[in-house]
Amino acid sequence: MRLVIKEDYNDVSEWAAKYITKKINDFKPGPDKHFVLGLPTGGTPLGMYKKLIEFHNDGKVSFKYVKTFNMDEYVDIPKDHPQSYHYYMWNNFFRKIDILPSNVFIPDGNAQDLQAECDKYEQKMSEFGGVDLFVGGIGPDGHIAFNEPGSSLASRTRVKTLAQDTLRANARFFDNDIERVPKKALSVGVGTVMDSKEVMILVTGSEKAFALYKAVEEGINHMWTVSAFQQHPHTVIVCDEDATLELR
Ligand code: F6R
Repeated sequence: MRLVIKEDYNDVSEWAAKYITKKINDFKPGPDKHFVLGLPTGGTPLGMYKKLIEFHNDGKVSFKYVKTFNMDEYVDIPKDHPQSYHYYMWNNFFRKIDILPSNVFIPDGNAQDLQAECDKYEQKMSEFGGVDLFVGGIGPDGHIAFNEPGSSLASRTRVKTLAQDTLRANARFFDNDIERVPKKALSVGVGTVMDSKEVMILVTGSEKAFALYKAVEEGINHMWTVSAFQQHPHTVIVCDEDATLELR
């Protein structure tokens, strides 16, 4: 596992955007060969998405031959709800770049059969040859996607019931009303992300410092699911100086 420490949030965002740009540009696409990119939502990647849009506008990168898979989506929330991850991704990124809508994959939290939707999602990823680069973020409790403390490190895409702490933390996006926070989500598993050829995890801010310490300096532990990536052959964590406060 490689740890890249940048000075602040802007530097992390720029580094991550440049990394993705290089990976896409180095990739040789074919008629049936796309670069497969896994993506997160949340506050952390917003700066990276802004930079990627900038690079795209400057002609430095095209997403024409990129397929994307998002990490997660809430269950039972309309796609056009401002808090849905569909809305987030289209609003903050996809509609500002040249990606083809048919190349965008986000789990459908309104599917009739949720587990079948998850299985289909996994199947699609492997059909396209697996994920080339999965970008992720982590919570202060070390969760990646909705793989909260205690999730199996071998988990695949599935329906997750959200922990009370997560509901409480997310209430701020739902008028501070915990009752309105979706109780379930579809989420890729730790095993799903582990199967990617490469993983890049963004960690910024002092509130993630303890999680970063658990991720890199302690052993692999399913109570800190991000720690699983110590065993991934090609993972880079990009963090800012604030996030390193607990490192020894
Ligand atoms: C995002 C996701 C989560 C977030 C994490 C950090 O799709 O699955 O793992 O990356 O909760 O969120 P922020 O960036 O808002 O601190």
